[in-house]
Amino acid sequence: TVIAVLNGPNLNLLGERDPEVYGTATLTEIEKLCLETADRLGFDVDFRQTNHEGVLIDAIHEVRRTAAGVVINAAALSHTSVSVRDALAVVDGPVVEVHLSNIHRREAFRHHSFVAEVADGIVTGCGARGYAMAVEHVAHLAAEEAT
Ligand code: DQA
Repeated sequence: TVIAVLNGPNLNLLGERDPEVYGTATLTEIEKLCLETADRLGFDVDFRQTNHEGVLIDAIHEVRRTAAGVVINAAALSHTSVSVRDALAVVDGPVVEVHLSNIHRREAFRHHSFVAEVADGIVTGCGARGYAMAVEHVAHLAAEEAT
């Protein structure tokens, strides 16, 4: 069983992009953290990143029936995209939103997330570890749903 971990625009630059805000972990290191966390709980991970809104929506469609659940950092699209929100609304399994930074402590335009409206949980401001927390929570919810 697979947990999809989906990443939006600019997250490919993690490690070099604003390390004081986003930390020093690269996306490859975050992927490894997700794989290890999921493996420990008996799940596989389908880890993806795209800079394109439509590609992210296609990825959500691809996994929406097959994944046990979805962890998503839609990055800036969280604050702008009704279409990403609508795609997530038709995901079968649990959805957990993750942000490396604490979006509520930052600029006002980051305080609202369309993704949050369709998420079962949100992890924000816990850095790369937040991904492990989100994967763990999706695994927990998926296991609960299966029983
Ligand atoms: C982010 C927060 C967003 O506001 C920002 O646009 C990002 C990253 C985070 O992980 O903290 O690109 O989603």
